[in-house]
Amino acid sequence: MNIVVIGSNGQLGSDVVHAFNSQGHAVRSLTHADVELSSLESVRCCLGSQSSDVVVNTAAMHHVENCEQYPQKAFAVNALGARNLAIVTRDLGSSLIHVSTDYVFDGKKSEPYIESDTPVPLNVYGNSKLAGEYFVRTLNPKHFVLRTSALYGKQPCRAKGGLNFVDLMLKLARERGRVRVVNDEFVSPTATPDVARQIVALSASDAFGLYHATSEGSCSWYEFALEIFAVVGTDVKLEIASPGEFPAKVPRPRYSVLENRELKNRGLNLFKSWRVGLTEYLCETKTPLVPQSV
Ligand SMILES: NC(=O)c1ccc[n+]([C@@H]2O[C@H](COP(=O)([O-])OP(=O)(O)OC[C@H]3O[C@@H](n4cnc5c(N)ncnc54)[C@H](OP(=O)(O)O)[C@@H]3O)[C@@H](O)[C@H]2O)c1
Repeated sequence: MNIVVIGSNGQLGSDVVHAFNSQGHAVRSLTHADVELSSLESVRCCLGSQSSDVVVNTAAMHHVENCEQYPQKAFAVNALGARNLAIVTRDLGSSLIHVSTDYVFDGKKSEPYIESDTPVPLNVYGNSKLAGEYFVRTLNPKHFVLRTSALYGKQPCRAKGGLNFVDLMLKLARERGRVRVVNDEFVSPTATPDVARQIVALSASDAFGLYHATSEGSCSWYEFALEIFAVVGTDVKLEIASPGEFPAKVPRPRYSVLENRELKNRGLNLFKSWRVGLTEYLCETKTPLVPQSV
């Protein structure tokens, strides 16, 4: 297949390119320097120049505080950008795989969200991504919208900069020997190669629709850190942060665990437990899996 990957130098996009390449597909990688999602003209010009079977959009404005500060820009990229892509891919007859987020939910549930739950975003980022979902779902019938959560991968997240949570925990442990992490926010930490693998599998199907696409199981950020240090064998003092110790500037869901109900219903779910994804990541990034003293 001819595949286009937008956001190809991003944390997820780089693994999506790699996953398609390793299956022998022809991949055209597009970065922000190649295409501006918020411009219909740019999207049409870039995608129309060469035919493609599948367009994968991993690009977004997803720094939560920046979205809150610049809501028009967030909607221009995440909502109207998704609309532009949906219109152009529909006109070209291509299918569109569009990545969305767990932040479309308010986190008031205490059991995993399924696709039919009503989204109630708490912030501009979540609202702009939800609007993007609706545009994709209504404009291009050949769509896959994948909501994922708490990503980490080898390539740094461009929007957030710096280290992903796993690497940050290991760095803090090395440098300080003591780490404090919140224990009252729950997610399904998901390694980007696992999302990429799921995207490749879906691209070969015509089971279009809305999907939750995260690792199996869930944990608090504290439990995630605990597992990171256990797998690596890091000798660190890990403590539970007090409520309000790291006050969030923008409201976020406290519980944004997703269940891959639709992938499972259709026999398409490839995700493993978050603990397996984490161990694979740590082995691949060659983090020493031996006890260290700090
Ligand atoms: N990271 C997470 O924990 C997380 C959780 C749930 C869902 N998601 C979703 O997963 C997707 C991928 O996230 P990621 O962590 O891989 O992000 P990332 O590393 O920040 O990559 C995003 C990419 O989008 C590009 N981009 C930004 N604005 C653009 C625009 N207006 N036009 C064209 N390209 C643009 C960026 O290019 P520049 O950097 O050059 O601008 C970058 O290549 C996003 O849709 C995000 O909403 C992420």
